[in-house]
Amino acid sequence: MIIEPRMRGFICLTAHPEGCAQNVKNQIEYVKSKGKIDGAKKVLVIGASTGFGLASRITSAFGCDAATIGVFFEKEPSEGKTATPGYYNSAALEIEAAKVGLYAKSINGDAFSNEIKQQTIDLIKKDLGQVDLVIYSLASPVRMHPTTGVLHRSTLKPIGGKFTNKTVDFHTGNVTEVSIEPANQEDIDNTVVVMGGEDWSMWMNALKDAGVLANDAMTLAYSYIGPEVTEPVYRKGTIGRAKDHLEATAFEITKQLEDVNCKAYVSVNKALVTQASSAIPVIPLYISLLYKTMKAEGIHEGCIEQIQRLYSNRLFSGNAIPTDDKGRIRIDDWEMRDDVQAQVSKLWEVATTENLSEIGDLAGYKQDFLNLFGFGFDGVDYLADTSELVFVPSMK
Ligand code: NAD
Ligand code: NA
Repeated sequence: MIIEPRMRGFICLTAHPEGCAQNVKNQIEYVKSKGKIDGAKKVLVIGASTGFGLASRITSAFGCDAATIGVFFEKEPSEGKTATPGYYNSAALEIEAAKVGLYAKSINGDAFSNEIKQQTIDLIKKDLGQVDLVIYSLASPVRMHPTTGVLHRSTLKPIGGKFTNKTVDFHTGNVTEVSIEPANQEDIDNTVVVMGGEDWSMWMNALKDAGVLANDAMTLAYSYIGPEVTEPVYRKGTIGRAKDHLEATAFEITKQLEDVNCKAYVSVNKALVTQASSAIPVIPLYISLLYKTMKAEGIHEGCIEQIQRLYSNRLFSGNAIPTDDKGRIRIDDWEMRDDVQAQVSKLWEVATTENLSEIGDLAGYKQDFLNLFGFGFDGVDYLADTSELVFVPSMK
């Protein structure tokens, strides 16, 4: 079969196995080109198949020579149906790791559940003994709470009032005004349950109680702050409340894991095109203006550049880990530079359907979006037959 992109709103229904493999290989090459990092050696990545989590797994493996276990929630391929991209990414990751003798195994299932936590603990016990770094990089719209059985849904809503601003349909380039009704308390609570820190804390305590967390281990989750224009729908909206909770949970975890001296950190990352961010109104327009500005300044980064810099310049530089006044690691420093933000605000004021392809990097946005699903890579023959199903080696 020949696989083509089939777009439906914020997602693409198909993914290209060869293209996803190319994406992973490109990221591996980038990490290798930056040299070895003296970092963690046994790494668990929760949310390891796409975006920042995938970049973290690749940097751990090919930057630090670490053994990695990746947990994710993806669809396998079947006759006539492609897998989700994260599945193909993980297959490629394991294949590339095996080529250089690096341990890499994966677990596909709901990370919020007790069962997947237990499976992960069993695998660590069997193969690695303990882990010394845990990356928590889940992005999910829903969470089934493991103790109550309640299915919680997160929302992307402003708090306290209706929010109206510009947004773009990145497929068509149409800039329109969008209005979002404010959240009620239930929306806020649900979003905190899904995207806040409770599950992270459950993971870390389960790992510790099972004795699979090494002394002096570290754990890291990812957050976002961003500019004023997106504040009502992001940092001061429902998702922002969840990020506040996640950030506060880092201190809780550090306290809870004091006896094994495990330190929990949150890293604030740059805005990037991922499946998660494409679904947030207003953000794609901001990203297209940000990309244009950062590319012009020569400081644009994708997930892999962000995480490689996070590991080499923040986590494992040999110096104390630098944090802001709220204890957060800031790898969004280039995005948040005054000159960058001033330029983006200027562009924001004037952005229209007519000028966006010029003043914004709409083409770059679209390219990155296609790339998420394995499309648009050089060196991939998109007309070749792909009938053979690709499976993740450790899950066959
Ligand atoms: P993503 O959608 O690319 O990755 C999400 C990962 O979570 C995937 O591996 C997916 O399989 C996994 N996942 C989702 N639900 C799961 C479940 N129930 N069980 C197991 N795995 C599950 O998202 P991303 O953009 O890389 O986001 C990761 C983190 O980074 C999030 O906390 C996000 O808020 C944060 N972040 C994102 C941005 C951005 O602009 N994209 C910026 C800063 C911080
Ligand atoms: Na991720």
